[in-house]
Amino acid sequence: MEWCKGCVFSNKVRILDTTLRDGEQAPGIDFTVEQKVRIANQLVKLGVDVIEAGFPASSEGDFIATKKILEEVGDKTEVIGLARANKNDIDKVIEAGLSSIHVFIATSEIHMKYKLKMTREEVLDRIYESVSYAKSHGLIVEFSPEDATRSEEDFLLTAIKTAIQAGADRINIPDTVGVMTPFTFYDLIKKVVNVAGDKIVSVHCHNDFGLATANSIAGVAAGARQVHVTVNGIGERAGNASLEEVVMALKKLMHYDLNIKTWLLYETSKLVSELSGIPIPYFKAIVGENAFGHEAGIHVHGVIENPATYEPISPEEVGNFRRLALGKHSGIHGLKKILEDQGIHLDDNKLRIVLMEIKKKAESGEKISAEDARNIAIKLLNS
Ligand code: KIV
Ligand code: ZN
Repeated sequence: MEWCKGCVFSNKVRILDTTLRDGEQAPGIDFTVEQKVRIANQLVKLGVDVIEAGFPASSEGDFIATKKILEEVGDKTEVIGLARANKNDIDKVIEAGLSSIHVFIATSEIHMKYKLKMTREEVLDRIYESVSYAKSHGLIVEFSPEDATRSEEDFLLTAIKTAIQAGADRINIPDTVGVMTPFTFYDLIKKVVNVAGDKIVSVHCHNDFGLATANSIAGVAAGARQVHVTVNGIGERAGNASLEEVVMALKKLMHYDLNIKTWLLYETSKLVSELSGIPIPYFKAIVGENAFGHEAGIHVHGVIENPATYEPISPEEVGNFRRLALGKHSGIHGLKKILEDQGIHLDDNKLRIVLMEIKKKAESGEKISAEDARNIAIKLLNS
């Protein structure tokens, strides 16, 4: 399958979805194989370029799920499996039948000393051996220096060069504990892109400071041409960069070329929320229930006249819905529209009476639905 080697010199940005690997690593999220296949099929429909299906060496379940996902969608999209930089993990990916592998090993001092208990030289040797081993089996190899953003910079660049010398096809830079700002990440990715030459540079951002989306798009601005994301931003700790936010920011604010069918974002988000049991925050950008919600009179009036007054994206573009709400901030135009949508036409005087009643109820803490407004209006008409 063509995986866009030429993207590095184009405006095209690839989306690697890791909902089924990094997303599932979050505490409390355990998808069944069937659920994983359902999500994988939805991701294909959505148009992601790569699905990270799992970490085959981590458990028998992950091995089986990765194999199954490959069988189901491997002819439609690139499916990749995670492996530590060792022969056993790489063999598991090969055994699962995958032709793409994501090999990682940490390059930060803290990880090398306390977790790996390896010296820099040993890590470099391991990178060379593991990447060459995977390449000798004909795999497409994406290499990640884990905790890249806390690694000593010269050593990080040496690690990247070593992976490239061993044949790595893509270099992914993980901000493993989410410590970058868009400014520092931009500078780092520029240097990595410079070293990577014609290899695609990818970014993988965690959200510990709420900056995963901002850092991902900064990485792209610096020359990265692939972004790792998860649906709804699920993942370790504060999660990963969220697919829907990154996609819409790249498309609408930066005008990059993506394969994503954005109008399927909301249904994809709903599916992952339902199967993971993790609710979508009400105020979540793009897919939240209030992402296209309006209550304040001035806003509702503007949106009725021309939605672009208060909506930088139209809800249809992402498959979400506009919701005009009623409350103490409501105005006459919004109420008129809400009632007319339900077939009720009132003159301005009557509208004002209904609006006063709604505001009174809202101020005393009641939630007012469109149906409540309708009932108040009907009562008034019948009085
Ligand atoms: O966050 C991270 O460093 C990872 C690696 C496995 C790439 O998920
Ligand atoms: Zn991660």
